[in-house]
Amino acid sequence: MAIAPSMPGEIDPSPGTVYIVGAGPGDPELLTMKAHRLLAAADVVLFADSLIPPPVLQMVRSDAEVIPTASKTLEEIVALLVDRARSHAIIVRLHSGDPCLYSAVYEQMRAIAQVGIPFEVIPGISAFQAAAAHLKTELTVPGLVQTLILTRISGRTQVPDGEDLAALAAHRASLCLYLSARHVAQAQAQLLQHYPPETPVAICFRLGWADEQVHVTLLADMAAVTQRHNLTRTTLYVISPALAATDRHDEEKWRSRLYNAEHERLFRESASG
Ligand SMILES: C[S@@+](CC[C@H](N)C(=O)[O-])C[C@H]1O[C@@H](n2cnc3c(N)ncnc32)[C@H](O)[C@@H]1O
Repeated sequence: MAIAPSMPGEIDPSPGTVYIVGAGPGDPELLTMKAHRLLAAADVVLFADSLIPPPVLQMVRSDAEVIPTASKTLEEIVALLVDRARSHAIIVRLHSGDPCLYSAVYEQMRAIAQVGIPFEVIPGISAFQAAAAHLKTELTVPGLVQTLILTRISGRTQVPDGEDLAALAAHRASLCLYLSARHVAQAQAQLLQHYPPETPVAICFRLGWADEQVHVTLLADMAAVTQRHNLTRTTLYVISPALAATDRHDEEKWRSRLYNAEHERLFRESASG
């Protein structure tokens, strides 16, 4: 059962199409409206069950086919997508956060495109954005840090040469570290090659889930705190000098030029004329 669009920009779910949808970090209220509409309209939902909590599926129809995929191979998932698309179902392939990050969607998109199945991608809120909101922080503070790095440590998936953590740490940017809790001691050692030990780190476990935990500590203690709380999965680390800037907001050098009275913007003339 599709929901007819009634406003400009509203998605009109199309039978036989695969919608690759970002589910956000876990809080169902952080789904986009498109994601919400697609989930409500879907005949079939394939979802990464190890990373998506049940409340995200609350708007799925009771007669929809809901297929967890954590234990399935790529070939099994693709076969299901192709079969259900050829049966003219409305299919949602749900991934946690935003599908463009560490979601293994590239190979799914390629495989279904090769057999002529149409697909669309609906973005979601990634874990790093949920972390920044939870921490009530801006990860790009003028005069302090203006670059964000989203990365992971090598595990089963090897990080290419030149992207190793120690090399990226040399920038001392705001660094959001995915998929690394199992290798946290190694990650800490590599980061300490360039970040000072007193750099603040937010250890964010299952943001938006019922058992969410957030621990703000120092880089020197990142591994010990992770291990003390027994965090081995679904943990995002935010390593950033910006996390220490919250008590400095009154200093002129931390202030964004965008809202500065001396800065001329398109919609506002500067105070000096
Ligand atoms: C397979 S990746 C998927 C990332 C996802 N596409 C995103 O944009 O957030 C899974 C990793 O993302 C991070 N992650 C995803 N959801 C999270 C959440 N709710 N809280 C904390 N970290 C999360 C963790 O680092 C986890 O190991």
